[in-house]
Amino acid sequence: MYSEILSRKIVELKESDQYREFVILNRIRGQYPLARINNSNNEKPVVVWCSNDYLGMSQNPVVVEAMHRAIDLFGAGSGGSRNIGGSHYHYEALESSLAEWHNKESALVFPTGYGSNDATLQCLLRLLENCIVFSDELNHASIINGIRSTKVERIKFRHSDTKHLEKLLTEQPYERPKIIVFESVYSMDGDIAPIKEIIDLAKKYNALTYLDEVHAIGIYGPRGSGIAADLGIADSIDIIQGTMAKGIGVIGGYITASDSIIDAVRSFAPGFIFTTSLPPAIVAACYASVEYLKTSSIERESLNKKTEILREYFNNAGIPIMHSSETHILPVLIGDAKKCKAAARKLLEKHNIYLQPINSPTVSVGTERFRVNITPNHSEEQIIQLTNALIEVFFLFDIPFQR
Ligand SMILES: Cc1ncc(COP(=O)(O)O)c(C=O)c1O
Repeated sequence: MYSEILSRKIVELKESDQYREFVILNRIRGQYPLARINNSNNEKPVVVWCSNDYLGMSQNPVVVEAMHRAIDLFGAGSGGSRNIGGSHYHYEALESSLAEWHNKESALVFPTGYGSNDATLQCLLRLLENCIVFSDELNHASIINGIRSTKVERIKFRHSDTKHLEKLLTEQPYERPKIIVFESVYSMDGDIAPIKEIIDLAKKYNALTYLDEVHAIGIYGPRGSGIAADLGIADSIDIIQGTMAKGIGVIGGYITASDSIIDAVRSFAPGFIFTTSLPPAIVAACYASVEYLKTSSIERESLNKKTEILREYFNNAGIPIMHSSETHILPVLIGDAKKCKAAARKLLEKHNIYLQPINSPTVSVGTERFRVNITPNHSEEQIIQLTNALIEVFFLFDIPFQR
């Protein structure tokens, strides 16, 4: 009976064209963005164009070396949760480094960015009695899940619409606890939130601010600590959340905030307390990457420059980058789920280009797209190859060019 119920669900998912399949992709050390499909050495490597390893830090020798060294010294796993034997030396170094990076009193590391949003929001919303949460309608699943797992009143505001947010805030008593949750860079559209305006509203209406900087960490700001730092307003955000799986190139999530907020989450969040901590090698690699990115701007500058080159190639070829994009994330509008899938298959099989189709429910129906991410490691030759291959599949599948 149980497997029948589950099988029916899978059939429904397949019928809705939302069933996901893995592509086996083995990145080749030192040759990123090249990777091998299906682990076959006989096949030509593919060029990866949709990785979140935005700066190529997963391949950076300083990071790889730090990971090796920690394995040699400490072995593979951490052996326990943070409170039961899993708080090794590297954690202290990493959390101090993250707090310093964001100019906050403290930081707390979680096994994933997902877990840091989920556990922190769930915890704070339960601790702050009678709290109401205002959440941008395009917030990530980890934020939505954290909020939904509590009974607090929650209100979605229209994406980055500060007028709408203000209207909703005015409807609440000034004294009532409030949290405004939003992201700095939205990963599917590549746009940036009106952070300054949201901070002003939070101050006016007595709300805490919670900013997810996952897609900006390492990439923006003079030392890479995100968009709020770039704008010089990080101090006015109460909680900054980040990941070490994208720009930093490893894995793990974190929050930075005041001592009292961090201590509360550390002490009360089940998603933090009841899980095994990250292994020393992972934390050592994260630390090496963060410290490296604080002082090296070569990767950031190169990413910016290459993004502009790619934009220019796409614009000249009429490949439609969505107008929302003002960052390193270039969403290319396909506008049809079947065409998006077929084009991706053709790009992979004929051109050795890996671009994952982004379909509903991740984005709304009719806005299916490729989310193209260049990195400092992509060459101009690879940019030209991608542009030509996209032109070919646009013609082949009758995908509209930019008018
Ligand atoms: C906005 C946002 N927040 C959080 C996460 C989760 O981060 P992680 O992949 O480190 O779990 C993601 C993942 O893509 C994300 O896009």
